[in-house]
Amino acid sequence: MNANATMRTIEERRSTRIFTSRDIDGEDIIRILNSANQAPSAHNKQSWRFMVIRGDRKQALAGLVSEKAGHFRKPSSTLLRMAARSISSAPVVVAVVNTGELVNHGAQSFEDVANITDLFRTMEIQSSAAAVQNMLLAAASLGLASVWLGILCLVREEVLSLLGVQEGEFMAVVPIGYAQRTSASPRKKPLETIVSYLS
Ligand SMILES: Cc1cc2nc3c(=O)[nH]c(=O)nc-3n(C[C@H](O)[C@H](O)[C@H](O)COP(=O)(O)O)c2cc1C
Repeated sequence: MNANATMRTIEERRSTRIFTSRDIDGEDIIRILNSANQAPSAHNKQSWRFMVIRGDRKQALAGLVSEKAGHFRKPSSTLLRMAARSISSAPVVVAVVNTGELVNHGAQSFEDVANITDLFRTMEIQSSAAAVQNMLLAAASLGLASVWLGILCLVREEVLSLLGVQEGEFMAVVPIGYAQRTSASPRKKPLETIVSYLS
């Protein structure tokens, strides 16, 4: 089924939520960020910024998420607490922020199109999502584990403030490290239920 190493990495990548204390080689972080930066982006704007978070700032982020969990009911509170554990246990967390460059470019270049801001914001999110996926796959290819923590959207303003981001839109937070235990493969829908062929 898997024709090559890329497809094997895609198949074998799993979300991991608890990490060992083993640190990640700095070169591996650069490799992962470089892979993210190679993702396709609308108008090649690369309107993403990556923040590598370690040490006290990372623990402060875990503390913030854990504290904010108490302001929500289940399942949000449970997911936020789990996210805090992932952030705390991983040696490195990468935050992805959208700069708005693509949105501004769209507004200036396509004045005649209705809802242009919405359209380009969608494309900015899509572009950054491609970068995040490259990040997850690059990490998996290096034997590292990761998880995309979308639930932090619930506290995005507080997260951006803690990271010192003045402008930009919260996109994702990704803890990366060595898996404490490998996650069971979640069931994926069979292809025949999601593909249609038209001619
Ligand atoms: C946009 C997005 C947001 C996600 N947010 C979270 C999250 O907040 N917490 C979490 O534990 N997993 C999160 N995940 C991971 C999914 O739960 C996971 O991808 C899914 O269960 C399939 O498992 P797999 O990644 O091992 O294939 C997110 C994934 C995506 C794409």
